[in-house]
Amino acid sequence: MNTIRIALTKGRLEEKSVALFEKAGYGCSELKDKGRRLILPLNGLPAEAVLAKAADVVTYVEYGACDVGVVGKDTIMEHGGSFYEVLDLGFGKCRFVFAAKAGNDVYKGFRRLKIATKYPAVARTFFGSKGMDIEIIKIEGSVELAPLLGLADGIVDIVETGSTLRENGLEVIEEIAPSSARLIVNLASMKLKKREVLDFLEKCSSGLPL
Ligand code: PRP
Repeated sequence: MNTIRIALTKGRLEEKSVALFEKAGYGCSELKDKGRRLILPLNGLPAEAVLAKAADVVTYVEYGACDVGVVGKDTIMEHGGSFYEVLDLGFGKCRFVFAAKAGNDVYKGFRRLKIATKYPAVARTFFGSKGMDIEIIKIEGSVELAPLLGLADGIVDIVETGSTLRENGLEVIEEIAPSSARLIVNLASMKLKKREVLDFLEKCSSGLPL
C-alpha cells in the first residue's frame, strides 16, 4: 500500500476531523499530541496528516502535495480549483449570509453597496446573480466591525451560532449558501492511489455521522 497524505484544516474543523479518523480506525495519538509539528503519522497505517490553513488545504490537494483533504465548503466556494469533492462530512456546519446593521434598509437608494468580506469571490457571485455591481472591501477577520465603523454597508460572512451578529447589532438580510466540512481528493491520486484513497473514503464514510 502507498502512503496517503491527508491535509487537515487547522482550527475549527480539526477536533471533529480527528474524531472522525479515530472512528474510522486510524490511530491519532500523534495528532492529538502534536505540539508544534505539522506532519503527523496516523499510527498503524500508511497515512500521514498535514495541518494547514483552510485555503492551503485546497492548494496542497489541487497540486498533489496531499492526496486528500478535509476543508469547509465555504473555502471551496471561495477558492475554486480542480479536485474531486467526494464526501460531505456533515460537521462544521455554518452558512454564508449577507448581513447588515439591524433595522437599516440596506437596499434603500441607488448607491453602489460597499461590502466587507473575507470571501470576495462568494460576495461577487452572490451580488452578480442579482445583477448588482458592488464595491468589495477585503477584510481578514472580525468582519462584523466594518459596518459598525462605517466602512461598509454590509458584510458577506459565515455564521455558525449567530452570536457574533446578534451581539454586535447586525442581522441577516439574505441567506447565501450552507456550508459544512468536505472531503476532497486530488485528481491524479484518485487514479494512481485508487485503492488507498477508496479504502480511506470507505473507512471515513463508515464513521459518519459523527
Ligand atoms: C467566524 C465568522 C464570524 C463568526 C461567526 O469568524 O467570520 O465572525 O465566526 O460565528 P457565530 O455565528 O457562531 O458567532 P472566526 O471566529 O473564524 O474569526 P475571524 O472573524 O477572526 O475570522
